[in-house]
Amino acid sequence: KQALNIVKMKKMKQDGIPLAMITAYDYPSAQLAEEAGADLLLVGDSLGNVVFGYDSTIPVTLDDMVYHSRSVARGAQHTFIVTDMPFMTYHGSIDETLRNVRRLMQEGHAHAVKMEGGAEIAGAVQAIVHAGVPVLGHIGLTPQSVNQIGGYRVQGKDAADAKRLMDDAKALERAGAFGVVLELVTEEVATAISRELSIPTIGIGAGRGCDGQVLVYHDVLKYTADYRDKRFVKTYADLGAQVRRGITEYVADVKNRSFPAEEHVFRADQGVQESLGTL
Ligand code: KIV
Ligand code: NA
Repeated sequence: KQALNIVKMKKMKQDGIPLAMITAYDYPSAQLAEEAGADLLLVGDSLGNVVFGYDSTIPVTLDDMVYHSRSVARGAQHTFIVTDMPFMTYHGSIDETLRNVRRLMQEGHAHAVKMEGGAEIAGAVQAIVHAGVPVLGHIGLTPQSVNQIGGYRVQGKDAADAKRLMDDAKALERAGAFGVVLELVTEEVATAISRELSIPTIGIGAGRGCDGQVLVYHDVLKYTADYRDKRFVKTYADLGAQVRRGITEYVADVKNRSFPAEEHVFRADQGVQESLGTL
């Protein structure tokens, strides 16, 4: 299977074929998402929340993103991988920005990078695109700016905000972005932006008019101990409950000595050439 590319993505938009994107943070999540047919994987800095347990994405570093991106690339070798540029790694000089992008591509094995912001980052977007690296924009609720926005709230609710989002989307397209993530944006505004742009929009909490959708792996699968419902998420499994039950049973089996059982043990009188799998 050949990985998707940005030319095909634009064609998919023209043909009305939705893009299905999901985050992945490590080797098994990437492998499973690829096998399940995801079009794109996002190594999101949401890993700060769902993998590291921070209360925002701000503490996530470039090293963190390189490390996780490389694991994802190992797991999904036939899928287009977009890696987030973390907090403050694309706001300094163009030289510094390009050095950071280089690491995500060469050490993180990403195919593209994602950056939060609109017209104010168009210069950085353009420089990265000129270096041959596809850029996915990200506007609406931009979690790296949570302290400036003053919370995680829906964007585009008044006319001025709607216009700002449209202008930012157009600025990103002009700067050469291959697509734009719209996060927590009203359906009306996201639909209008999707119609206006020739590049695909990928929504999260942005309604039905987007050209694709993205969700966080741990949200889709309820893969957390304390899952809280979010209106824009649909859950498709309850991994948290399954993991808790599985480990509870394992602990009980060890305590009552029902694990290991006969079938798990080695003896001298059995063949010694048994394969031990991945050991
Ligand atoms: O980090 C992330 O998971 C994201 C998505 C929410 C778009 O940026
Ligand atoms: Na992100």
